[in-house]
Amino acid sequence: MAAPTKPLVSDLVSSISSLPANYVRPDCDRPNLSEVTLDYSIPLIDLQGLHGPDHSKVIKEIAEACKYYGFFQVKNHGVPKEVIDKMLSISREFFHLPVSERMKNYSDDPMKMTRLSTSFNVKTEKVSNWRDYLRLHCFPLEDYIHEWPTNPPSFREDVGKYCKNARELALRLLDAISESLGLERDYMNSALGKHGQHLAINFYPPCPQPELTYGLPGHADPNVITILLQDDVPGLQVLKEGKWIAVNPIPYTFIVNLGDQIQVLSNDCYKSVLHRAVVNCSKERISIPTFYCPSPDAVIGPAPQLIDDDHPPLYRNYSYSEYYQKFWNRGLNSETCLDMFKN
Ligand code: OGA
Ligand code: NI
Repeated sequence: MAAPTKPLVSDLVSSISSLPANYVRPDCDRPNLSEVTLDYSIPLIDLQGLHGPDHSKVIKEIAEACKYYGFFQVKNHGVPKEVIDKMLSISREFFHLPVSERMKNYSDDPMKMTRLSTSFNVKTEKVSNWRDYLRLHCFPLEDYIHEWPTNPPSFREDVGKYCKNARELALRLLDAISESLGLERDYMNSALGKHGQHLAINFYPPCPQPELTYGLPGHADPNVITILLQDDVPGLQVLKEGKWIAVNPIPYTFIVNLGDQIQVLSNDCYKSVLHRAVVNCSKERISIPTFYCPSPDAVIGPAPQLIDDDHPPLYRNYSYSEYYQKFWNRGLNSETCLDMFKN
């Protein structure tokens, strides 16, 4: 089948008044927005104290958030406001470029490192998701930045600066998470080989029938940790004890969630938690996850320090590239990819 000429949701939305059939989920798989919990959220952790006398208190907060939620928000994280503002505005500008300009970056091959695409994996999925996204690899920056869009003109500079800041935050969080598990501070850092960092800019246009579809259906992230920046439009929801909780945006904070690799490295002490993005009928939404990950050749398995007679290793060792390919080929769904790596 020939590629559609206007594959992106953002270019479809002006010409329709109801949801096209390929976005409609079956009855049993809809967001049920009226059942979502709005009255409490995930923990908000102040990172100010991480490098002072409150160090152990902050580590304890991180340990509890990782254990009970797999998700937390951070403030006083060290990423300057201007860097965040520019990242959000350049993302908005990119998705408002003329279609011909945006489509220069289009590809539906999930193994391509720089690409604009739509839904999740259009080659394998049956129902589409109400999302367009630009994906970039961003560490080491100099290996990839030459592939990035050059329009808007300051794209590479603004996004490059953001990526460097996000990486510094990721490294501090990995040290803190290692410590919270009782491992050496640099355990995670060393386990990730040469490290990898990917960025997605998710664009969710207004949707005529948000009850019938998802921006992204429930899934766990395949990487180590995700640092999510979102604009001021709600849409992210996290599964806690069988109920979906809405995570409403707090300006200039980040949302941190644990990915599948932390679940494996921690031998299930910490879990990679299901989350999803829903859409709405009036406002476009932008979210920007930084996926911090191992390098493709890194061998991942449970930390030996967390294994004893009572806690046998729950997963076999594997290379991150094996995991990552399985994740993209299998399609987004709530059955975790982790089962394929269980002992
Ligand atoms: C993701 C994701 C959530 C959001 O891109 O993996 O979970 O709020 N995004 O867009
Ligand atoms: Ni996710």
